[in-house]
Amino acid sequence: MIDSFQFSSLPRIIFGPGKRNELADEVLARGRRVLLLTGSSSIHNSGHGDEIINALKGASLELGHEVIAHEPSPSMIDEIVERHRPANMEVVVAVGGGSVMDAGKAVSAMIPVEGSIRDFLEGVGDRKHPGLKIPFIAMPTTSGTGSEMTKNAVISEVGEEGFKKSLRHDNFIPELAIIDPEMMLSCPAKLTAASGMDAFSQLLESYLSTRANPMTDALALQGLKQIKRYLLRAYLEGEQNLEARSGMAIAAMFSGITLAHAGLGLVHGFASPLGGFYYIPHGVACGSLMAPVFATTIDNLLDQPENPAMNKLLIVSKVFADFKYKKDLEYLQAFKQKLIHITSLLEMPLLSEYGLEEKGIQKVVDCTSHKYHPVKLTNKQMVSALRSRI
Ligand SMILES: [Fe+2]
Repeated sequence: MIDSFQFSSLPRIIFGPGKRNELADEVLARGRRVLLLTGSSSIHNSGHGDEIINALKGASLELGHEVIAHEPSPSMIDEIVERHRPANMEVVVAVGGGSVMDAGKAVSAMIPVEGSIRDFLEGVGDRKHPGLKIPFIAMPTTSGTGSEMTKNAVISEVGEEGFKKSLRHDNFIPELAIIDPEMMLSCPAKLTAASGMDAFSQLLESYLSTRANPMTDALALQGLKQIKRYLLRAYLEGEQNLEARSGMAIAAMFSGITLAHAGLGLVHGFASPLGGFYYIPHGVACGSLMAPVFATTIDNLLDQPENPAMNKLLIVSKVFADFKYKKDLEYLQAFKQKLIHITSLLEMPLLSEYGLEEKGIQKVVDCTSHKYHPVKLTNKQMVSALRSRI
């Protein structure tokens, strides 16, 4: 029996090597005054930044430009909006990683609306965004968050009272996502690892989610197969392996679609408070916690053989298995080991490197939601998962 479900619209997607060259025409089709947001380093080191700026200028577009140096905060978005609202921008283009995508999505939604973005953030403000925006084009340079597919922008304020919350509306799905795997060749190995683990956790969590449906299942499983095939290759040979970059770009794109429709689980539940209290990059928080969270998840699910997630975990374990085993349990144990192995090969940092200490663990656990995780972990298990990464 298939439960009822909905599947909302997606951006128009232009995928393929060299497709960045279509950006200027796509902008022109929407307006002449464009605000370009880029990341701070690799895109400019690679030459793609100048290439894109020159293409936009060559098309006689009026160009505003902002560099997004870190995950967007309310004040960052408010300041960018204030600077560029008087220019009557008609299009926002974001070229970069997840932070740049989220910043672009947020700026495109706040230019037509008075007030601080803080007032419209879920769980923070009390105003409902009317859904007005100017057109937004997303061009990712990392394979991770899949933000180019989603209707929410994640905004963080880091500190004692910090948060990581979303600005969300159905209208905020980007008009267009141009996904050019050549743009990802220059993504540094460390960032490839963290963003790749973000995509991996998003696929696995949405596949096992209690809200999963047959469409998200199809995409999530296909995405997980791409992760198995290409994550390590993208990390080790990222500068020259376009096939690996393409595979990871597909995985990230699918992960954005599946998380938007099926939701996420406990790894992302942990990532929200961790990202609010500490300057931990989102992909590192997710990548660091995947192995301990799923080891315990498997243990708990073994007591619930009728849970539909059990069969799905077995399917994933077989996708990631390097050998043929006789028993299901052997596949599941091998998957636990595989996650530890991938974490180590990708040199995922410990959370203590970003300031998490024993005394901060319980506060993180208290602020963590299981989201749509298929099984509950006890307080003790959640503490142990975090403790294993300090
Ligand atoms: Fe994520």
